[in-house]
Amino acid sequence: MKCKIIIPSTLALAAIAGLSFLYSGLYPMGADVPHTKLTYWVLETLRERSIARASSKLQIPDLNSPAMLLAGGADYNDMCTSCHLKPGQQKSDMSQGLYPQPPNLTKDTDDHDHSHGDNSDIDQAARRQFWIIKHGIKASGMPAWGLTHDDERIWAMVAFLKKLPQLTEQQYQIITARKGNSGMQH
Ligand code: HEC
Repeated sequence: MKCKIIIPSTLALAAIAGLSFLYSGLYPMGADVPHTKLTYWVLETLRERSIARASSKLQIPDLNSPAMLLAGGADYNDMCTSCHLKPGQQKSDMSQGLYPQPPNLTKDTDDHDHSHGDNSDIDQAARRQFWIIKHGIKASGMPAWGLTHDDERIWAMVAFLKKLPQLTEQQYQIITARKGNSGMQH
């Protein structure tokens, strides 16, 4: 009998405590104060589970064509470096000021060795990148580029991102230069 009273009243108290905290204004919302560990974990889990689910069925085109690499490189240089940097660049106002921080995409953060790696992991990483570039990420500085760019251009940037961590400053300059008017325009 007792638990019929105890459980609902505990739940009600927890709900009141949660709501009081929400309305109290105590949570620091500035981008210059990091999230608490719990908030960070909740947001990261929400983001990664959602993206993994939404992207799992995407068909990947051939990402190895040179034309794709060139188109993706020029677009990356125009639209992404202010936040995600380029070879030889360590930081920008955006890379420092945004929270969550835009990852430095010139660094290979993937710690497993691709030569022995599982292909399905590499494919899923490409699908995840495509999805993020196309749809953006809520409550972060990452815009949804799919509203203004078609899938082909987005896959081209995914193709370029695969190569970016291996490029020297010079190679980067050459690959990302737009050739006269033959390059794709915005
Ligand atoms: C105004 C800043 C900004 C610009 C411009 C921007 N991004 Fe981002 N991007 C972000 C932020 C911030 C994140 C991290 C979001 C998060 O962690 O929730 C992100 C995340 C990503 C990720 C996921 C990285 C990972 O592995 O977690 C990819 C891929 C990406 N961006 C690609 C691009 C590409 C390609 C462009 C250009 C077309 C671009 N971004 C332009 C801010 C930006």
